[in-house]
Amino acid sequence: MSAPFATTERLPESVPSELVWDHDFDTFTLEGDDPFISIARLHDGPPVIWGTEANFKRPGWILTRDDVIREAFIDYEHFSSERPGMIADMLGEPVLLNPIEIDPPRHHQYRKILNPFFTPAAIRGYDEPVRQICRELIAKFRNRGECEFVDEFAVPFPSYVFLDLMDMPRDLLDQFMGWQDELMRASDPMVRVAAARSIYGYLKQHMEAQQANPTTDLLKGIVSGQVEDRPMNFYEMMGMFYVLYVGGLDTVYSTIGWIMQHLATHPELQQRLRENPDLLPQAIEEFSRAYSVVITHRAVTKDFVFHGVPMKKGDEVNLPIMLANRDPEVYDDPHTVDIGRKPRHIAFGTGTHNCVGINLAKREMRIVVEEFLKAFDNIRIKPGETPRYHTGRTFGLDYLPLTWG
Ligand code: HEM
Repeated sequence: MSAPFATTERLPESVPSELVWDHDFDTFTLEGDDPFISIARLHDGPPVIWGTEANFKRPGWILTRDDVIREAFIDYEHFSSERPGMIADMLGEPVLLNPIEIDPPRHHQYRKILNPFFTPAAIRGYDEPVRQICRELIAKFRNRGECEFVDEFAVPFPSYVFLDLMDMPRDLLDQFMGWQDELMRASDPMVRVAAARSIYGYLKQHMEAQQANPTTDLLKGIVSGQVEDRPMNFYEMMGMFYVLYVGGLDTVYSTIGWIMQHLATHPELQQRLRENPDLLPQAIEEFSRAYSVVITHRAVTKDFVFHGVPMKKGDEVNLPIMLANRDPEVYDDPHTVDIGRKPRHIAFGTGTHNCVGINLAKREMRIVVEEFLKAFDNIRIKPGETPRYHTGRTFGLDYLPLTWG
C-alpha cells in the first residue's frame, strides 16, 4: 500500500504509526476509471488502518477485509450503530433513523414491526406495480434509440417504488426528486439541511394522515407499532418513515446504474441472460457482490483491542462493503463478474442490521434487468460518450448514456 505517513497533529496517540493512512478517502477512491478497483488498492495493506480523512474528512478506522468487516457488523457490543450526527443533527429534531441507528436489544423491538412486510411472500405483492413503473419509464425513451440511464431511469425508478410503498401520490415525484437531489448533491450544507427538512415536513403530514386513517398494511403496521408494550412515539414513527425513504433510494439507484453499465459493456452476458432468464437470480447475486455500493460505519463503544489494534471509545469505524465483497482472499479474480460463482456476499450488510429491504431490492433489480433486456437488443454505451461516477458513502453513476439496436 502506498502509505505516506500522517501529520502527527491529527493522530490520537493510541494509533500505531504503521497503521496510519494519510489520504483523503474520497479523493483516493475517485482516482482512475473504476472506483471499485481504486478502493481495492487498500487490500495491499493491513486489514485495519487509520485514515486521517476517512469519512467526509473525519479521521477514523477503515476495515479492509471480508473477515474483519463481517466481525464488526456482527459484534454490536463493540461496534455501535448509535453513532452521533446523522439525520437528527440535520433536522434539529430527535429523530433516530429507526431501526438502523438503534442497537440490540432495543433494535429487535423496532425491526420486528417492519419484518412481516418485507418477507419474500409479502414482496411478491409489489411485483406487478414495480414492473409497471419500469415499463412506464422505459416507454418514455423506447422509440428514441437512446437514453441517459441515470436521470431518465435509475433516479426516478426507486422514487416511484417508494411513493407506491408509502401509498403517496405519484405526482409527488418531481417534488421528491428535487429534494432528494439537493439532499444528496448540494455543495451548500444549508441547502442539504433545507431539503432534509422539506422531506421531513411532507413525511410528517403523511404520517399524521395515516395515523387517522391507515391505507395499507405496512403503514398500519408502523402507525400502530408497539415497542416495549407501548405505542411508538412520534419521533420513533418518523424515524421509521424516514429510514424507508433513505434506505431504498440511493442504494437501488446506484446498484442498477453499475449493473446497466456492466451489461452495456458485456454484450455476451446480455445475450446469455436474454436467452436464459432463469439465470437472472444468480446474476443479481453476483452483480450485488461485484457492485456493492455502500460504505457504512460504526462507533467503538469501549476501549478494546481489535485484531491487535487498540481502539478507543468513540472512534469511528468505516466498513466499505465493496472491500469485503472483492476481497482476493475470499474470491478468485474478484474484479471479474462471474454469474456462476454463488457468492456469500454482504452487499446488504450482515448481522442484526442486515437490510430489511433485501428481498424488495433484489426484485427491483431483477425486474429492471429483465425489462431492459426484453425491450432492447444490443444495449451499449453511446459511442463517443464516457460514463461519469461519484464515490463518497455510496458509489454511484452520475451519467450513463445508452443506445441500443
Ligand atoms: C440495492 C439496494 C440496497 C442495498 C445495497 C442496501 C444495503 C443495505 C445495507 C448495507 C444495510 C446495513 C447498514 C448497516 O448495517 O449499517 C441496509 C439496511 C437497511 N436497509 Fe437496505 N439496501 C438496499 C435497498 C433497500 C430498500 C429497497 C429498502 C427499503 C425498503 C431498504 C431499507 C433498509 C433498512 C430499513 C435498513 C436498516 C435495517 C436495520 O437496521 O435493521 N434497503 N441496507
